[in-house]
Amino acid sequence: MKVDVLLGLQWGDEGKGKVVDVLTPKYDVVTRFQGGPNAGHTLEFNGEKYVLRSIPSGIFQGGKINIIGNGVVLDPVLFRQEAEALAASGHDLTRQLCISKKAHLILPTHRILDAAYEASKGSAKIGTTGKGIGPTYTDKVSRNGLRVGDLLHNFDEKYAKAKARHESILKSLNYTYDIAEAEKQWFASLDYLKRFRLIDSEHEINRLLQEGKSVLAEGAQGTLLDVDFGSYPFVTSSNTICAGACTGLGVAPNRIGNVYGIFKAYCTRVGSGPFPTELLDETGKKIRDIGHEYGAVTGRERRCGWIDLVALRYAIMIDGVTHLIMMKSDVLDSFKTIKACVAYRIDGKETKEFPFEIGDNIEPVYTELPGWQCDLSKIQSESEFPENFNAYIAFLEKELGVPVKIVSVGPDRHQTIVRHTEND
Ligand code: GDP
Ligand code: IMO
Ligand code: MG
Repeated sequence: MKVDVLLGLQWGDEGKGKVVDVLTPKYDVVTRFQGGPNAGHTLEFNGEKYVLRSIPSGIFQGGKINIIGNGVVLDPVLFRQEAEALAASGHDLTRQLCISKKAHLILPTHRILDAAYEASKGSAKIGTTGKGIGPTYTDKVSRNGLRVGDLLHNFDEKYAKAKARHESILKSLNYTYDIAEAEKQWFASLDYLKRFRLIDSEHEINRLLQEGKSVLAEGAQGTLLDVDFGSYPFVTSSNTICAGACTGLGVAPNRIGNVYGIFKAYCTRVGSGPFPTELLDETGKKIRDIGHEYGAVTGRERRCGWIDLVALRYAIMIDGVTHLIMMKSDVLDSFKTIKACVAYRIDGKETKEFPFEIGDNIEPVYTELPGWQCDLSKIQSESEFPENFNAYIAFLEKELGVPVKIVSVGPDRHQTIVRHTEND
């Protein structure tokens, strides 16, 4: 069997959690392969809303195996809070959820370093989620990290060494902090972590595939936040792209099957960094208000703008997307006209290629389309789509060269419409 991958194609928050939950019944295994609690994946069903940060979004569809892969960075305290909250609402995960021994641990000092680095950057700060993501991946790559499997051998010694190294960096930055309470909670949470199956996930996943089990890999963040191909340096510290599923799970590239690329019918971004189609006017505010564009974890205002097809084409190319999924279509219901950026004009020259530098000199070239101006949120099948909505989808498919397979018209599990394409 193959691993299907679901990825964000923009700057995150596209609606990955919702769609993973919807697709899970088709799979035996759901797994996260990168990122950590910087993610906030929202699911809504039966009138309840859940936000997942480290736990895969397949956890609610009973009886599925959920795996936190080796590419993930895990904060034991936040993991415990998340798992205990789910247990309190009747979802006991200890039998369903396994954690890779090779996943790296976020230490209390990693979070402090994240804050210290941001403070030292002043107005050039990244606007990170403050969860210690960058410092943890830095330690991984510089071969200084602590992994979940280390909990089983000589852990205290390894921890003391890492902490001392972090403290000397913080001293050189003149950063003052108090770690005592956070450290106490952190150690208490390590014992909780040990209640879960800590596994050699690369062996387990390949064994499951060999046995004919189907696997869905759930991306976090989005392609434009990828450390190699995103809007560097305003990115996260992991490979959010499809190839990240290979390194973050230990599956070979020829094991990758369908690649579901997910995007909003418009575009958003949280934190600093370039955003060519950003709307700083009333239209941007209208999208934010209707779309409730505030961070699922941090509550930060999301910046809003029109859909950017230059960036989307780039993401589709890098990820090898086979199917597109369009989210939050209902947010544009009341717009008389909708704009889509089809090219960039840079220093007077038009290009369709996503450039090295996403600078202030980029001027988006827009195509205007008529809005559908009716309520999509109650629609239950493709046959009910208004004409102008069909025209918007057809325009996107032509521009992007990949079929739109799923359309989302509201936050609930059931507000999801699967389209029937020629290859069905
Ligand atoms: P993720 O990080 O990619 O999982 O996305 P988030 O959960 O951070 O943000 C997506 C937000 O949009 C959440 O609040 C979802 O409940 C909501 N949402 C998802 N799909 C739709 C949709 O089709 N319409 C509307 N109005 N909201 C949606
Ligand atoms: P999900 O999975 C949106 C952004 C931060 C910041 C940059 C680096 O919910 O889509 P980090 O803490 O990773 O070092 O921050 O990346 N960012 C996200 N933006 N959705 C996310 O996750 C994000 N995870 C990180 O805002 O600009
Ligand atoms: Mg999110």
